[in-house]
This record gives sequence, structure tokens and C-alpha cells, in this order.
Amino acid sequence: MFPDAKMFAVGFDRFGPPEVLTVGGFPAPHAGPEEVRIAVRAAGVAPVDLALRAGTSPSSARLPLPHIPGVDAAGVIDEVGADVTGFAAGDEVFGAVDVSRLGGAAAEFAVLAFWAAKPPSMSWEEAGAAATSVETATRALDRLDVGAGRTLLVEGASGGVGSVAVQLAVARGARVIGTGRPENHAFIAGLGAVPVAYGPGLAERVRDLVPGGIDLALDVAGAGSLRDLITITGAPASVLTIADFTGPELGVGISRGELGGEPGGRHGLALAAALSSQGRFRVPVRAVFPMDRAAEAHAAAARGPRRGKVVLAAPPAHGEPVQGERG
Ligand SMILES: NC(=O)c1ccc[n+]([C@@H]2O[C@H](COP(=O)([O-])OP(=O)(O)OC[C@H]3O[C@@H](n4cnc5c(N)ncnc54)[C@H](OP(=O)(O)O)[C@@H]3O)[C@@H](O)[C@H]2O)c1
Repeated sequence: MFPDAKMFAVGFDRFGPPEVLTVGGFPAPHAGPEEVRIAVRAAGVAPVDLALRAGTSPSSARLPLPHIPGVDAAGVIDEVGADVTGFAAGDEVFGAVDVSRLGGAAAEFAVLAFWAAKPPSMSWEEAGAAATSVETATRALDRLDVGAGRTLLVEGASGGVGSVAVQLAVARGARVIGTGRPENHAFIAGLGAVPVAYGPGLAERVRDLVPGGIDLALDVAGAGSLRDLITITGAPASVLTIADFTGPELGVGISRGELGGEPGGRHGLALAAALSSQGRFRVPVRAVFPMDRAAEAHAAAARGPRRGKVVLAAPPAHGEPVQGERG
């Protein structure tokens, strides 16, 4: 896409369907203060990437085009910015780009604004898809003050953020109920939550399932169920959403993240890594595509049922697309 290209990257120069994604050459980025640059091994595909590419995100308007998508990545540090301590070239890490950049991960090199050491227990694909879900889930669980002795309902427990929120809440000692479509119930149970079907009648089903009641509810689905969640917990203040912008009308808080000036959950990455090492945390991955098939990856990520992340695997060397699909 640039004549003086220095690295291979996925990019788009107009908004639209997945087919607007192509691969080409881009100038390589460099690590600024408190940042590291990685040689990318894997980059997750998140809902925000799909919305930014389609032009339907409120933030699409401020994207300079062409744009490299992707907010989450894992790889090997090859450049360390000023004021970074405790990390050096050659370290294997996972993390996310600066939230204000809204992309840059689906490339041969990416600059991370926050990261943690990748434990050997985490595959590159898991690590590449982890950071934003872990940061978001940690921020939401902190804000709800989820801890031992509390019962938490996660609405949308099988998705990227939901599956991570369930595991991190269980690790905090909470009892967790997770909603999902029935074919996802075994998966949700495997994450450590008691599964229950979402949709009409949720409050009654939960009352039968948990006679002692639910203390807190986290909505990560944005499917319009906040009134049910208030009924289930008994108070709007006990409910938090990350995806339903009608929240304030009902007295329910929205966690918008660092762009909204909220304290972030970046500290969750090191905890997730430690839990992975203990066999208590995983990032479900449902498909891996080479970066030169990013359009197929975005199309797959848009299709339900969503149980695990879609991940882009990096090319092995400058400008050489990977051939063949895994997963
Ligand atoms: N505020 C923030 O900081 C922040 C950060 C990250 C993400 N988000 C937003 O949070 C949302 C979730 O992100 P994600 O990555 O977890 O998305 P995802 O992987 O697509 O997961 C969405 C989940 O919602 C479930 N779902 C679908 N219909 C439902 C219904 N009617 N009732 C209950 N659950 C339902 C899906 O289950 P099935 O597909 O199996 O039905 C799936 O588990 C997105 O809107 C994203 O943009 C916000």
C-alpha cells in the first residue's frame, strides 16, 4: 500500500465488507516512550476491528486511511521504548496497542502500549487474542468489586470478554452463573460457571437455579437484557454493562474503558498469565487464519455462535504470506 514499504501488514483504504482487507507493504512503526515493538506472531480479531473496518464504529470517522486493523497481538520484543523497565529484546509478550490508535496489530511489527510476559502455557494464538478481553473483564470485575463470597451472573459468558470474565471471577473466589445458548452450556461449565439459557424468562430460570439470589451482574452481550438483570440482582447499581448504551437511562453503569477516562484493567494481564501457568486460565480460540486471509477471518469472526476468538497468524518473514489455513 506504500511504495517505501518496510513491513507486511493487513490494511484497508476504504470502509466496507471484509473484502476491503488486503495485504501489502506499510512503513514499520517504532516504539515510543513506555512502549515496546514486537515481531508479531499472532493477532486477535475483536468485534471493534469489524466495526472499524465496516465504518460503523463512532471512531471510524477519525481513522487515517489506509489503516492496519487489530488491537491485540502477541510476539517477540525487538525494540524497547524509553522508560520501559523489566523487559528486553527477545522477550515473548502479549498485549494491546494504544487505545487511541485503534489498530496496528495485524502486521509483521506492532507497537504495544501495555503487555505482560507470555507464559509457556499460553499458545501464541491464545496470547495474541487475550489482551483486550482480559483488560476489559478485569476493569469490569474491579468496578463491580467481584470477590470471594459474591455470586455473579455474566450475560454473554461464551464470548471473548465473557469467557475471560467468567474465569477471572472464579479465580477471585466468586460463584459465577453464565448465560449462553444451550449448545454453549458445556463450554460455559468448562470455564467454571453454572450455565443458564439467555433470553425471555431469564429471571425465573435464575431464581430456580440460585435460590439464594444473585449479588452482581455483568452484561457483556449488549442484547437488551438490562431490565432482567436489574430484576435478578434487585438494584441497577449491582449491574454493569460494557455494551449496552441504554444503561444510564436505567441507572446501570457502563464501563467504556480508558478512552472514557476510566481506570483500566491492564494489571489483569499479568494475573491471567499467572493463572494460565497454573492451568486455571485459557483463551478459547475457534479459528486461526494466516494474515493474507484476513478477509476470511473477519467474515468468520462476524458469524455466530461465538465460542472462542478468531486469530490471525503472522507471516514467517518479511513480505512472505503464510499459505494454508489451520483451525
Ligand atoms: N466497553 C468496553 O470497554 C468494551 C471492550 C471490549 C468489547 N466491548 C463490546 O462488548 C461486546 C462483547 O465483546 P466480545 O468480544 O465478548 O464479543 P463476542 O465474542 O462476539 O461475544 C458476544 C457474546 O454475546 C452472546 N449473545 C448473543 N446474543 C445474546 C443474547 N440475546 N443474550 C445474551 N447473550 C447473547 C454471544 O453468544 P452466542 O454467539 O453464542 O449466541 C456471545 O457469547 C461487543 O459489543 C464489544 O464491542 C466493549
